[in-house]
Amino acid sequence: MCGIFAYQGTKNSIPLLVDGLRTLEYRGYDSAGVVGVNSAGDVFSQKAIGKVSNLATKVEKHKTSSIYTTGIAHTRWATHGTVTEANTHPHTSENQRFYIVHNGIIENYKELKKSLSQKYHFYSDTDTEVVAKLIEDNYETDLKTTLEKVSLLLTWAYSLAVIDVEKPNMIVGIKLGSPLIVGKSSNGVFISSDVNALASVAGSYATLEDHEMVIIESWEYQVYMSGAMIRKDAQDMDIEYDVDELGAFSTYTEKEIHDIPSVLENVFQWRMNFSDMSLHNETLEELFEHDIDRIEIISSGSSYYAGMIGSYMIKDMAAIPVQVTISSEFLADIFLPDDKTLYVFLSQSWETADVRESLKIVQAKWCLTFWIVNVVGSTIARLTDMGLYSHAGVEVWVASTKNVIAQVGVLLMMAMSLWLKRNLQYSQARALIAELSELGSKIDEVLVQWPRIREIAKKYTKYQSMFVLGRNIFYPVSGEASLKCKELSYIHTESYSAGELKHGPLALVSPEFPCIVFNPEGKSYIKTVSNIKEIRAREGTVLGFVTKWEEQEDLYDDIIEIPKTSEIISVFTSLVASYLFALYLAEELDRDVDKPKNLAKSVTVE
Ligand code: G6P
Repeated sequence: MCGIFAYQGTKNSIPLLVDGLRTLEYRGYDSAGVVGVNSAGDVFSQKAIGKVSNLATKVEKHKTSSIYTTGIAHTRWATHGTVTEANTHPHTSENQRFYIVHNGIIENYKELKKSLSQKYHFYSDTDTEVVAKLIEDNYETDLKTTLEKVSLLLTWAYSLAVIDVEKPNMIVGIKLGSPLIVGKSSNGVFISSDVNALASVAGSYATLEDHEMVIIESWEYQVYMSGAMIRKDAQDMDIEYDVDELGAFSTYTEKEIHDIPSVLENVFQWRMNFSDMSLHNETLEELFEHDIDRIEIISSGSSYYAGMIGSYMIKDMAAIPVQVTISSEFLADIFLPDDKTLYVFLSQSWETADVRESLKIVQAKWCLTFWIVNVVGSTIARLTDMGLYSHAGVEVWVASTKNVIAQVGVLLMMAMSLWLKRNLQYSQARALIAELSELGSKIDEVLVQWPRIREIAKKYTKYQSMFVLGRNIFYPVSGEASLKCKELSYIHTESYSAGELKHGPLALVSPEFPCIVFNPEGKSYIKTVSNIKEIRAREGTVLGFVTKWEEQEDLYDDIIEIPKTSEIISVFTSLVASYLFALYLAEELDRDVDKPKNLAKSVTVE
């Protein structure tokens, strides 16, 4: 959700900054901008609406021979103000002396703007421009003391990088809430919103904590806290950020769906032993040392649906009550701490502000916490009692697919582990592990059906709205499928529990308003069939994600076939089939599936 990149060194910053923005583009691609300053204080500035490639084209067109050794850049996910060049960062002070890029939201910007408006003109609708004007208004002797003062006036969240064209060898960065990393190379110092953008340019890096300020001057940096210099140990750059080539695929979303069988191998590797059909994981074993009689999973977006799916597995196997809470609702609600509850924070990125803030609330009450995160090396590992990586690898663009599957895999292991400990169901567990050893090939059976799924998806592009239905564990599966369909194709889809349709939504069903139903074989099969009949009786069109057999043929207008397996395995295969369906729905409508409009991969604001 907005990416910041900055450089001060011996090289021309402009191409380095544009390259950095390409890696950070998953944080927002509404518009992008760059400002560089050379040793004489001359400024180079370019902004472009849309993707970083548009900025790159503009920068190339206006290239000069000057070397701008100091620069800041930004890729925007719009919060305050529409997508225009005027709202694109960097923003500047009235006197054009200070340039600033910002990630976060200044919640009190309106009051600040009101008082500054008497003295300054505002050229954008952003909260960020207010900070630029505040810097000018409060400037006395230097940028460090000015920013210390200004930061006290801001209601968070922010990470900022600021340059002063009268001091062209300097950048100041400061953060509260939003991320900021500083990286050092042999030719200069970088600031970035994430470490991946530094992986190929910096030899070491340090992650700033809240309230820390970094001052980069003449290719060196120092970190300060409350005005005093502090020691900040850098760590060697141990991150390799290699985005796989697309190969035969045309989008990363498609590639990542096809990566799912190998992702599952990573998830289960070292944790499940397929030769003796056992489960070994120290972290999960450690869970039993605690007296847990309830679990609450806190997450957002696709991670919320993964949590919901996991909750059915844990309840079913281990008979432990599980509540799943959307993180922004967790923050909005009263927290009633319980010392026998395990609080699980489920996030692919560990950047989602709502999830991070929820953790602070839980930790303030000394409750037991557990994380499940994909990004290895994430700060959450240091902050909570214990956790597991979902090991899905880098998910490049917005729609989460292989990571959701990996999260469900980890939650399944948690369920199995608790199940074994509490109920000692060894033979049943062994049978399930044996089935899981075949999961990759079952998913392959779905993936090879892609031409048929594409054909069916094409038929459904003509609809404006669709219900997506399921019961029991297939209810959250339908929620995740619906989310993927709407975010990729922009068709309005809405998930309902199949049994709930008759309580109102059925009024909308017609041949023009179809229902997508997840009903592979399982405990709710018969009851869901009854719901399908209710839809058919009202001439509703039905697409079924089902285990195919004869008697079903007249229940559905179209069938996407799920291999015949146990219910748990068909959760995974149904999700994969739904991902292909959503992908093709979007592609047939000519959508940019990797970069759906209005969205970003990391959501660092509340
Ligand atoms: C954004 C992403 C989703 C993701 C959600 C939660 O909306 O586009 O793919 O599911 O954030 O992110 P998290 O990193 O906390 O799982």
